[in-house]
Amino acid sequence: MDSLEIKGGPALRGDIAISGAKNAALPLLAAGLMATNRLVLNNVPRLADTLSMEGLLGHLGVDVVRDGEQVTMSGGATDFDAPYDLVSKMRASVLVLGPLLARYGEARVSLPGGCAIGTRPVDLHIRAMQALGAVVELADGYIQARARNGLQGGRIMFPMVSVGGTENALMAAVLARGETEIVNAAREPEITDLANCLNAMGAKIEGHGTDTIRVQGVDELHAANHEVVADRIEAGTFAIAAAMTDGDLTLHGAQERHLDALLAVLRDTGATIDCAAGTIRVKGNGRPQAADITTDPFPGFPTDLQAQFMAMMCIADGSSQISETIFENRFMHVPELLRMGADIRVNGGTAMVRGRKSLTPAPVMATDLRASVSLVLAALATPGISTVSRIYHLERGYSDLETKLGNCGAQLRRVKG
Ligand code: EPZ
Repeated sequence: MDSLEIKGGPALRGDIAISGAKNAALPLLAAGLMATNRLVLNNVPRLADTLSMEGLLGHLGVDVVRDGEQVTMSGGATDFDAPYDLVSKMRASVLVLGPLLARYGEARVSLPGGCAIGTRPVDLHIRAMQALGAVVELADGYIQARARNGLQGGRIMFPMVSVGGTENALMAAVLARGETEIVNAAREPEITDLANCLNAMGAKIEGHGTDTIRVQGVDELHAANHEVVADRIEAGTFAIAAAMTDGDLTLHGAQERHLDALLAVLRDTGATIDCAAGTIRVKGNGRPQAADITTDPFPGFPTDLQAQFMAMMCIADGSSQISETIFENRFMHVPELLRMGADIRVNGGTAMVRGRKSLTPAPVMATDLRASVSLVLAALATPGISTVSRIYHLERGYSDLETKLGNCGAQLRRVKG
């Protein structure tokens, strides 16, 4: 397993082109199952997770052709079984459930199982399918779903906001007979991007981006060409990197309205933020001031930036309270940050961070995607040599991370393990 050796200290300065969003690309790839002839996606990042999803679609019989960051899917599915060995590798594989049910009336999808950050159940996905008339059984670790006469529009009420649940519900609803109302829907930009693509394929969706989405079912979806939205979590990660290394980064392709909550907090810590059409420039101003955050569904502070922000608070002037409300175990980065001399106390879903002038370099271990990158950020801001091991976690969600950071002054070296 490879590791990343990082010589921390230098301020990061320069320009970074933000890639397409992993968490938009994954449902969009699943939507490729629904196109009667062809769906062409542009700006699809080359990541372990997107390649896993492309592999699953191929397993289901879809003709998937990747040319750089363009992925063309055609031919539809000939198999409706998403096996455990593929789904357990990448839990977002459960997003093929809605498309398969909607177009083919059947799906057998392995339960994804948990992951480092939580049990990650899919009960809300299943209830959404049932609300559209599907018969769903759980057997042998699989979701076995049928809709012999096709799906019937209905009212889907989410008791808690679920990004993936909303995406599965939306994809199922677009080919259901009649109208569907999705209540307490997730409002993430990735949902809006999926709805925009489905509408380009001939779907009739309204209200996406709000907490109530209405869908008029159609008989089939035609070909379309869609550009994946920029990755707000990648952009937010680099914004924090600039602020915590007293740097100056211009992020190309990032959208300000997708990062309002983060940018407001970064301003509170003393960073200077300048936004223009399609770019966000972030400048540090010496040692960051401490600030509190609570993670929330969009447009609140993203849970996917919590670990990165905690790394910054470890060297802030003052104390910061960080509350994680989305996942039950998303503080896996804390023990590793403690190895670097951080002062963090965890009590349930809340971490109290007392900022230090500087951390100390150390070998640390990545555990999940966002925890991994928080360790990279901490190492970049800490003078001396740190090593982050198990960086395969990073490759799930960040394309060309070493190159993007290296071009901005970071001194890092991959060590083959
Ligand atoms: C998506 O996961 C993202 N992944 C996650 O990003 C992100 O952290 C999360 O949304 C929240 O924004 C992708 O888009 C591929 P949820 P998802 O359903 O859809 C509970 C990353 O680092 N829940 O919104 O799985 C769940 O356990 C990843 O890029 C149920 O109880 O998240 C969690 O506590 C990590 N039952 C909460 O809801 C369900 O059926 C929110 O989960 C579904 C979810």
